[in-house]
Amino acid sequence: MSDSDQQKIEQLRKDIQQHDHLYYVKDQPQISDREYDRLLQTLKDLEAKHPEWITPDSPTQRVGGAPAEGFATVVHKVPMLSLDNTYNVEELRDFHNRVIKNLGKEDGLEYVVELKIDGLGVSLLYEEGQLVRGATRGDGKTGEDITANLKTIRSIPLTLPMQKDGYQSMEVRGEVYMNRKGFEKLNQQREQDGEAPFANPRNAAAGSLRLLDSRITASRPLNIWVYALGHFEGPAFNTHFEMLKQMAELGFRTNPETRLCKSFDDVLKMIDEWQEQQASLDYDVDGLVVKVNSVSAQKKLGSTNKHPRWAAAFKYEAEEAETVVQDIRVQVGRTGSITPVAELTPVFVSGSTVSRATLHNEDEIARLDVRVGDRVVIIKAGEIIPKVVRVLKEKGKKRKPPFKMPKTCPECDSKIERPAGEAVWRCVNAACPAQLKERLLHFASRNAMDIDHLGTAIVDQLVDTGKVKSFYELYDLQLEDVSTLERMAEKSGKNLIDAIAKSKQAGLARLIFGLGIRHVGQRVGQVLAQTYGSMDALAKASYEDLEAIDEIGPRIAESIREFFGEKHNKKELCKLKQHKLVMTQEHKAGGGNLSGKQFVLTGTLESLTRDEAKRKIVDAGGRVTSSVSAKTDYVVAGADPGSKLTKAQKLGVAVLSEKEFQKLI
Ligand code: IVH
Repeated sequence: MSDSDQQKIEQLRKDIQQHDHLYYVKDQPQISDREYDRLLQTLKDLEAKHPEWITPDSPTQRVGGAPAEGFATVVHKVPMLSLDNTYNVEELRDFHNRVIKNLGKEDGLEYVVELKIDGLGVSLLYEEGQLVRGATRGDGKTGEDITANLKTIRSIPLTLPMQKDGYQSMEVRGEVYMNRKGFEKLNQQREQDGEAPFANPRNAAAGSLRLLDSRITASRPLNIWVYALGHFEGPAFNTHFEMLKQMAELGFRTNPETRLCKSFDDVLKMIDEWQEQQASLDYDVDGLVVKVNSVSAQKKLGSTNKHPRWAAAFKYEAEEAETVVQDIRVQVGRTGSITPVAELTPVFVSGSTVSRATLHNEDEIARLDVRVGDRVVIIKAGEIIPKVVRVLKEKGKKRKPPFKMPKTCPECDSKIERPAGEAVWRCVNAACPAQLKERLLHFASRNAMDIDHLGTAIVDQLVDTGKVKSFYELYDLQLEDVSTLERMAEKSGKNLIDAIAKSKQAGLARLIFGLGIRHVGQRVGQVLAQTYGSMDALAKASYEDLEAIDEIGPRIAESIREFFGEKHNKKELCKLKQHKLVMTQEHKAGGGNLSGKQFVLTGTLESLTRDEAKRKIVDAGGRVTSSVSAKTDYVVAGADPGSKLTKAQKLGVAVLSEKEFQKLI
């Protein structure tokens, strides 16, 4: 029986690896997501039954467990050099001439031209065909060990098919990046959760790779293009192009736009074509990389201590435009964040007319020394939002005084503050009309209370006329209040009132999310609703209680406590209750026989995974916390339990064996 389980496990791993490759590398899936999930679940179940057979290269091990304390330092066996930049055809021709001069001939000189991906250089070390370490480039000599995070990228193979001659040790290099769509979605989510958005896809990729909790990295849409080898023991390659082909055969994702150029003129042709074509990609590139194809020629050319002499980057100048800063205004976001924005004389750049550009924050304004009336250069390259890159100094022109952040909120005149360690100023008044408008829009949004017809134009009028100053006042609105608003006919007024009334049934999870508590996104809203079952119970939860929940860290716990501690929030909730909004959540099927019971899991369970055990407890109305306290009702102890068991015994908490636990659920 066990023998056949082992065979099944091996077959499943092979199949899943093959489907990962087809889906993530080749972009040609052969099975549905559902079928794929089923394979993965079968493997998870079998591995739960035989934890001794779990290997680090199993597809179930892509998403790691507990967060790391920090990253270990990695010394690269072969330094990760950077590339010499060229910015125009003359500079690139100089590079080409140096290559010819150093090689002593031009005959047979071929180049490989690749896209220069705007992401993060990483190294992947495979020993005997197994991924054993992944690292950042760092300063080129030493980087950081980010193996757990890189393993979450499904287009990175965990094992390689071993060739006859074998690649005993092979370090593959490539660029991790985030595509634009994924980046925009991530930023939308962050803004909804009250977190600062990333400035561009590159920062988002870098931030995601440097997270200490690889479970969060796993949720980020990261991908890789592989383009080089570092340390390498195995059969040699004659050309770079051949090496790339071999990497693709081994299962790595190599960029399909890479071109073998038989002459320098072909290189120039590609440069010309990609000037325009760049914009058609769904990821950012910051130029092209031109590499001498022959490996022996590369060896002959060698490297300086900074970059190889056999390769050069060609960077397209980002399309720039000049314009004048007419004004610097500050915008107030939902969480009160105050962002300075430059109002510009409209100017056409990279395909559209731009009249505003973000200045990010106070420090950025000081760095640029940008002032009202200045002539500035703006770009749209890469960044989604146009950006001021520099100020053009005009001789003899008297400039306006430096911009100063307002002392109070530009919308409500309340105090603003800049928390220590943050670059952003915030308005402290939660009733600030600008914040209120943003918060109402969030409350009404699809994933929150889903109130159709409550868009920007209506919210602006409701707030400006003083009809709505908090969420509950939406539920006081009568038809005559809304049908008198601009652009609102009687019919649409009725639709709005109906939609508002309907939202009372949206449910606890959506309501928690809709309240706009900082750091509480949609997922956390669901976890809190499941765990506490009612708004009243959540409002009473202590910091320790909250923090003990698996998916809730100190930052979220603190922000929840702060929210429920405030007087006007208490009033808001009381009024919403009077309006009969649904503020409880029935526990799901499962009988709710564990309602209110608090569990801690320790050790390895044989018949089910930890996630499954957690789900079963939550479905039956219980909650799972990570540490044992006097409030714990049960500790479930699997094989090799840790110190949690000792603590439970000390506190006299009931300890259940796996069998007893199964009976209970
Ligand atoms: S080759 C020895 N190829 O650009 C040469 N690098 O500015 C090693 N990059 O650190 C790099 N796309 O992170 C190479 N097709 C590509 C690339 C690429 C992006 C990055 C890489 C490198 C940086 C140098």
